Order: sequence, then structure tokens, then C-alpha cells
Amino acid sequence: MSGTIEVKELVKRFGGLTALDGVGFSAEPGQVLGIIGVNGAGKTTLMNCICGIYRPDSGSIRVAGVDVTGRSPHEIAHQGVGRTFQIPRVFGRMSLVDNLLVPVLDRKLPDRQLLEQAESVLEQMRLIDLRHNHADELSGGQQKLLEMARMLMPDPKVVMLDEPFAGVHPQLCRFMIEQIESMRDGGKTVLLISHDLTSIYRLSNTVIAMNQGKVIASGGVEDIRSNQQVIEAYLGD
Ligand SMILES: Nc1ncnc2c1ncn2[C@@H]1O[C@H](COP(=O)(O)OP(=O)(O)OP(=O)(O)O)[C@@H](O)[C@H]1O
Ligand SMILES: [Mg+2]
Repeated sequence: MSGTIEVKELVKRFGGLTALDGVGFSAEPGQVLGIIGVNGAGKTTLMNCICGIYRPDSGSIRVAGVDVTGRSPHEIAHQGVGRTFQIPRVFGRMSLVDNLLVPVLDRKLPDRQLLEQAESVLEQMRLIDLRHNHADELSGGQQKLLEMARMLMPDPKVVMLDEPFAGVHPQLCRFMIEQIESMRDGGKTVLLISHDLTSIYRLSNTVIAMNQGKVIASGGVEDIRSNQQVIEAYLGD
């Protein structure tokens, strides 16, 4: 139960637009749930509702059995949910180490221990040599790695990655895929949004396909690959 996430009948409207129209799914620790769909399907809105940036109009979100619907981003992070953003949101004028310390500021742990932890995560992400640089000196791909590192600092149970591979060199993509595999194999519940279907199909245990705010198909990779509605949503009929 530790990182199980259960979303039911989630609705989010922006004025007259229904961005999420009854979305539901569940995902388990040690598994990757791939989330696919054309531009504007509602994928990022779904993550924004789960992490508390948006308050859903109705429906529910449970993490490890706890109802977190409508709670603040801070409370939801404390419940063990971490994420990265489609466009990286690093603290540009802070060092990499300081970027990593932000999500653990309120943890009652000795500074030395937090610093060691930050350095170990930066080492894992191959950013250790840049640890005293400002985040805005990093390339776009490196900023994506830094966001992943910052997400991992509080050791979240659920991790949500929004387009981690977009605009990233294939070599770095391979490294990111390995990192995601190690999050999954370490027992985290991974939600992965990507337009890179090859990576989605390689990593995911289950995939949901979204279109116009709805889940139009869900299942194993093979089911989704051959699903007529998914093919039509991507290619037109
Ligand atoms: N803050 C907002 N205010 C108004 N409309 C919004 C807002 N956020 C998202 N939307 C709308 O909700 C719909 C879903 O957007 P969302 O960003 O979730 O799509 P997406 O599936 O992540 O697309 P992409 O693949 O392009 O990132 C779009 O029509 C978008 O314009
Ligand atoms: Mg998006």
C-alpha cells in the first residue's frame, strides 16, 4: 500500500473547457504507469491536480490509502509525492546543492546529513562536478536531471515525470531511462508522461491513453499498441 495511488472520476474545468473529464486509474509501487495522448489531452493537468497545484472540481486522489484531494502542494509532497515539470523549474540563481536542499528545509535532520544526501543524489545524476554552479548555468537536459535529483531528495513514494525526454539528446535519454528503471526497481510508483512512445512502451507496466480529458484506453503495452481508438486519436481516422 505504501506508494499506491488511486485516482477516481477526476474532473477539472477551466471556464467552459473540461480538461479532465472523469479520469481514473491506479498504480502500484515498483511499477511504471505510462500516460500518453496528443497535445492538450489533459496529461499535465492530471499531474497538476495530483500534486495540488490545481484543485480538482470533483473526484478523488488517494496516496497510500490517504485521501489527498484538494490538499496543498506542500501537504501532498509530505505525503510522499514528487514530480518534475514539462519545462524545468529550477532555482536559477541558487547552486545545485542549494536547489536540492529546498524540498528538505523543514526536515529535522542535521545539516551535514542533508548535505551528504544532496551530494550523493548529485553524484548519482552525474552532476556532482557542477554542485557549486548556479542552476541557470546548466543546459536544458542538465536542468531536467537537476529537477529529477531535487524530486528524489525527500525520497518520495510516488514520482511523476512530465516529458522527461523532450528536447534531450539520445545519450542522456538512455541515462534517464536507467534512472527511471532504478526508481521503479527501488519500489517507487512511477507516473510517466511522454510523447516518446518507444520509451513509454519499454518502461511501462501499464499505459493509459488520454484524449480530450478522458482515458480512452488502459492496459498493458500490447493492448495499447493495437488499440484502434488510440491509433485513431494519434493518426486521425
Ligand atoms: N491553467 C490553465 N488555464 C486554462 N486552460 C488550461 C490551463 N491548463 C491547461 N489548460 C487547458 O487544458 C487542456 C489540457 O492541457 P494540458 O496541459 O493538461 O495538456 P497536455 O496533455 O499536457 O498537452 P501537451 O502534450 O501539449 O503537454 C488544454 O486545452 C489546455 O489549454
Ligand atoms: Mg503537458
